[in-house]
Amino acid sequence: MSEPKKLFIKTYGCQMNVYDSERMAEAMGAEGYVMTDAAENADMVLLNTCHIREKASEKLYSDLGRLRPLKQANPDLKIGVAGCVAQAEGAEIQRRMPLVDIVVGPQAYHRLPQMVRDGGSQVDTDFPAEDKFDHLPQRKAMRGPTAFLTVQEGCDKFCAFCVVPYTRGAEVSRPVDRILREARDLIARGVREITLLGQNVNGYHGEGEGGSWTLARLIRTLAEVDGLDRIRYTTSHPNDMDDDLIAAHGDVPQLMPYLHLPVQSGSDRILKAMNRKHTRDDYLRLIDRIRAVRQDILLSSDFIVGFPSETDEDFEDTMALVRAVGFGAAYSFKYSARSGTPAAERPEVMASVADSRLQALQALVLDQQRSAQHAMVGKEVNVLYEKAGRFPGQMVGKSDHLHAVHVDDPTGQISELVRVRVLASASNSLSAVRIS
Ligand code: 5AD
Ligand code: SF4
Repeated sequence: MSEPKKLFIKTYGCQMNVYDSERMAEAMGAEGYVMTDAAENADMVLLNTCHIREKASEKLYSDLGRLRPLKQANPDLKIGVAGCVAQAEGAEIQRRMPLVDIVVGPQAYHRLPQMVRDGGSQVDTDFPAEDKFDHLPQRKAMRGPTAFLTVQEGCDKFCAFCVVPYTRGAEVSRPVDRILREARDLIARGVREITLLGQNVNGYHGEGEGGSWTLARLIRTLAEVDGLDRIRYTTSHPNDMDDDLIAAHGDVPQLMPYLHLPVQSGSDRILKAMNRKHTRDDYLRLIDRIRAVRQDILLSSDFIVGFPSETDEDFEDTMALVRAVGFGAAYSFKYSARSGTPAAERPEVMASVADSRLQALQALVLDQQRSAQHAMVGKEVNVLYEKAGRFPGQMVGKSDHLHAVHVDDPTGQISELVRVRVLASASNSLSAVRIS
C-alpha cells in the first residue's frame, strides 16, 4: 500500500482560524491526507492566514518565499493559502507568488478537497449560498478534553478600523440542531470543555425549536448535555450582552467565570470615531451588572491605541477605564490601517506617540494580570488536565478562570478535572498541588 499523503498547516491569528484549520485537516483527512508537523516532508502545505492587524500580507509573502526551495525540490508539492488574507487578496497572491496552487477564502474551504482533486491553479473567494459546515466531515481529530466550536461567523458591526465584515462577510448564525449535534459528537469523543466561537458570538441568533435562539439559550441547553463540564464563549460585543446571558453567568455552573469583552477605548470621542455605538459609561455599567451576578468573574478585553485623532487626553481616558475595571487579562494593539476600512482614510497618530501609549497600557495591563494571578495563591481551584507538563510528575491545564496551572500530580491523567491548591504564581502560570 502506498504511504498516505501528508498535510502541513500553519495557522495564524485567532481561535476561529484554529477551528477552521482543524476542519480543513478533517476534510483533507477524508481524502487520505494525514497531518505532519514538518513542512519539509509534506505533500501539501496550507497557510491559514489572518488579516486583522499589521503586516499580515507581508508575513504571508515572506513565509511563501521560504517555501520556494521545497517546491523546487518537489514540484508535486501543493501550496495553498486560506483564511482572511486569501479572501482579501484573492488571485493577486498567485500573481505575486506563482508557486501558490490554491487560494481559498474562509467561507469556501469545504471546497478545498475538490480543488485539490481538480489540480492546477485555483482561486475561490466566494461567499457561497450553501453552508460550508453542511459539507464538512464529522468532527474527529480531537487532541484532548477541550475543543472549539464555531457557532457564528462574520460581523455587521463595521467598527471603523476592522476588516472582519469584509473578509468574513455578513453575520451568520449556525442552526441550533447542527451545533448541538457537533457538540454531542465532540463530547462522545471525550471533550469536556467547549468554547463557542464567533466574531460576535453573543449576537448569536441561530434558528432552533420555536424560532431564533439567543446564545444564553444555547448555553443553557448545552449545560444539560451529560459529560460537558465547562462552557466558554468568545468574542463578544458589549452591545450584545443581553439580560439572559448576564443571568447565565450567575446561574449556569458549567459557564466558566471568564469573559472576554473588547471595549477598544475608554474615550467617548474615540469610541464614536470607531463606530462602536456604546459609550465608556455603557461599558462600565455593563461590567457592574455582570459582577453583580458573578463577583469573581475574570474580565478580559481588547484595546487599540493610536487610533486616528486620539489625543493624550483620550488615551488617559483609556488608562482610567482600565484602572476602574481591573482586568485579569487584556490585549492591546497599536492601530494599523486596513485598506478598505473607513479609518484607513484618516490621518494617523505619530508612530512614536502610539508606541509610547502602547507601552504604558501594556505595563498597566500586565500589572493587573499579575495581581489577578497572584490573588489565586492559597485558593482551591478546579483544573482540567490538557497535557503532561515539562517535568516528571507534572500535569498542565486551565483553571475555571482560564489561568494556566502546573500541578504536581504523578498519577494525573489527561482529561481529569481535579481540585488543586494554588501554591505560587509565576509570570504566565500558577503552580499547584492536587487535593482531590
Ligand atoms: N488595528 C489594530 N488593532 C485592530 N484590531 C482589529 N482591527 C485592528 C486594526 N486595524 C484589534 C481589535 C480587535 C482585535 C481582535 O484586534 O482590538 O478586538
Ligand atoms: Fe471587527 Fe468591530 Fe465586528 Fe469586532 S465588532 S469583528 S472589531 S467590526
